Amino acid sequence: MTDYPVDMTVKPDVEAFFDEATNTISYIVSDPSSDACAIVDSVMDIDYAAGRITYDHADALIARIKEKGCKLEWIIETHVHADHLSAAPYIQEKLGGKIGVGSKILVVQDTFGKIFNEGTEFQRDGSQFDKLFEDGDTYTIGNMKAFAMYTPGHTPACMVHVIGDAAFVGDTLFMPDGGSARADFPGGDAGTLYDSIQKVLALPDDMRLFMCHDYAPGGREIQWETTVGEEKSNNIHVGQGKTREEFIKFRTERDAQLDMPKLIIPSLQVNMRAGEVPTDKDGNPMLKVPVNGL
Ligand SMILES: [Fe+2]
Repeated sequence: MTDYPVDMTVKPDVEAFFDEATNTISYIVSDPSSDACAIVDSVMDIDYAAGRITYDHADALIARIKEKGCKLEWIIETHVHADHLSAAPYIQEKLGGKIGVGSKILVVQDTFGKIFNEGTEFQRDGSQFDKLFEDGDTYTIGNMKAFAMYTPGHTPACMVHVIGDAAFVGDTLFMPDGGSARADFPGGDAGTLYDSIQKVLALPDDMRLFMCHDYAPGGREIQWETTVGEEKSNNIHVGQGKTREEFIKFRTERDAQLDMPKLIIPSLQVNMRAGEVPTDKDGNPMLKVPVNGL
């Protein structure tokens, strides 16, 4: 396994912004020793029935960064989300920063480029992003060292980003009582997800873990922060040493019962373009619906 440069002495400030429409949590991660910050997993608002896009959630992130007087260095996507649209380009236009995603985005672009019958003008080389992270790649946010950890399974391009003692797990894990994310999208795989989760659980027990989603199981309050130790003890899908075979059986049976996420059709088209809305031949923003294509 890759030897990751964990440094628990670095303790970033983490502010969470919950999006009620999609149960997504976006984060502003700030360096306490400088004016640098990063955003993890932003959200663009969409009224899909009306074909209308707005930016209230992204504007809240932008306002907070301006209020803090921070310099935005990175806009990180943990993966190509299927349940919400990224606001990365909108935020970049207002605040700068580099948009980064896992290098396996090329696989995702190839898969969904075919499903959405995108023409040759849709580049499948990841060039819509500023940075394609490989497993173990390091980067900085001010004085903080961060690294990306390759964690496929939910999708082929998933990465967990570890910034000091805080890890942004994307959709590898949910809160302990939520378990794990589905592994049945094109390119997903339950066994691969189990292996990726083990990489997260191999981080130090007191590493803070920040979720990308929470669905408040059992009607509790929305939560987004836990630790590696908590997940190892209590995660209902992988905790207490559940085996790979047990996980694959459970995950496969459960995924077979799940409906497609409400926003998967617009999300994939936008997010595989780093958050840019596709356009028709006249340059008008336009989304497609492949009938029986998913
Ligand atoms: Fe996801």
